[in-house]
This record gives sequence, C-alpha cells and structure tokens, in this order.
Amino acid sequence: MNKERLIKSSDRVKSLGEVFTPKNIVKQMLDQPEVMEKVNDLTATILEPSAGEGAFLVEVLRRKMKVALSQSKSADEFDDKGLVALSTLYGIELMEDNVEMLVMNMFSQFSFDYQSGTKQLGGSPNKEVLESAKVIIQANMVQGNALTKIDGDGNPIVFSEWQLLPIVGNIKHQKVQRLEHTFQDILDGKEESQGVLTHKDSEELDLFDFLDEDYNPEEEEQDIKKQYAPVRITKVYKKELEG
Ligand SMILES: C[S@@+](CC[C@H](N)C(=O)[O-])C[C@H]1O[C@@H](n2cnc3c(N)ncnc32)[C@H](O)[C@@H]1O
Repeated sequence: MNKERLIKSSDRVKSLGEVFTPKNIVKQMLDQPEVMEKVNDLTATILEPSAGEGAFLVEVLRRKMKVALSQSKSADEFDDKGLVALSTLYGIELMEDNVEMLVMNMFSQFSFDYQSGTKQLGGSPNKEVLESAKVIIQANMVQGNALTKIDGDGNPIVFSEWQLLPIVGNIKHQKVQRLEHTFQDILDGKEESQGVLTHKDSEELDLFDFLDEDYNPEEEEQDIKKQYAPVRITKVYKKELEG
C-alpha cells in the first residue's frame, strides 16, 4: 500500500503550516450533509483558499464528476456537464511547487473520470474537452496569497467566472461566458450583499453567488477585468475575447 506523504519538510510545517490532509479524513469531512449538498449541486462554486496539492478539491471533483455523469444521457451531454462541474472549483495556494501538483492532480482526476464516463455512455473522448479542462484548471487554480489577495507575480488575484448562459430554442449545448473579476472585488461584492466576511466564511463561500440575484452585466461592467465571447463550454480553450 502507498504511504501518503503529508509533510514535505519540518521547515515548511513551521513556516507555512503545511501538513496535507489524509484521504480518509478528507472523505469523512466531505461526507458532512451540508458539504454533500453543495457537492451534489453541479453549479455550486467552492473555493479552497489554502489548497495545497488538492486533497479536498480533487475529491470534490471526483464526486462532482459522478453527479455530472448521473445527469447525462449521452456522451455529448457529459462533455458539457463534466466541464461545468470542473469550472465550479477554485483554489489558491501560496507555494509554486504545490500549485504545480494541484494543477496536475486536478487534470488527471478530470481526465480519468471524463474518459471512463464517456466510455460508460458509449462515446469516445473529445480532445476539445480535455483542452478546455486545462484552460479552466489553469484559470481556477491560482498561485498567490489568500490573505493579501496578491498572486505570485505581485498582481491582484483574478478569478474567472464561468457564467452559464440560458439554453434557448433547439440548441442543447451549454454556452458559457468567461468573465474575470479580482478576488478583492468578489469579496467586496459579498460584503455588500451579506455583511462582513470572516476567513471561515471565505473558505466555504459560493464564490459568485452575490452576482446571481438581479445580476445586471452593465452595472458590473466596470468591475470585469476581461470578458470573453459566449461559447459552448467545450470551446473555452480557444480563449476568444468578446467583440
Ligand atoms: C495545512 S496545509 C493544507 C493543504 C490542503 N488544504 C490539504 O488539506 O491537504 C496549508 C496550505 O496552505 C498554504 N498556505 C499557507 N499560507 C497561505 C496563504 N497565505 N495563502 C495561500 N496558501 C497558503 C500552504 O502552502 C499549505 O499548502
């Protein structure tokens, strides 16, 4: 049996509090009813502000991919639903080496679940889905400091909102619009709508829920850092900008 490596060095434990959570504890914590409710909701967003190598996010992804599969009647539908599940998961991690592992672990979990789910539905994997998954993971897993909200390059942390557009007419495919916001703007928006956030709240926050009610893109425009063209979610790898 593989022994889990939970500590990299005693210096890092002292300076960063870096002790990874064992798999059995992660599973027990995610089995709590209030967490399960979020995991079972394909579109509920989850942010881990000290993500490490992804102990929690990877297990949440595995569970959300199961939900996506159970809701898909065809491989084509699973292409969309799998990517929607992935797009709801966000992480911040201070250390570059941990972020590399986090990105790799998220992609290998997605790739494994996507390929096996597609097979179960009688389809074959679509390269565009895997390319889009890479773009989503790169955007959502940020190297930075969750407390100062500054990224590894010294810029404000920016998150992409993958806003699901309503499915209209005969078009069955899920379209999304990628909108970039600074982490600070997201927290300020939440403070306005819900009162002051504590650090604990931010660990559990539904990242963009303050935008859900009465959302008016025109009013929000000044806060959006970059706006991409609405596309089917399997095409986000093309990174086409609006206009
Ligand atoms: C106790 S470990 C937990 C990692 C992961 N959540 C897990 O359960 O395995 C804490 C992690 O937070 C990171 N960290 C420490 N300070 C941070 C900060 N200000 N912003 C973002 N990440 C931070 C550390 O590098 C470490 O990977």
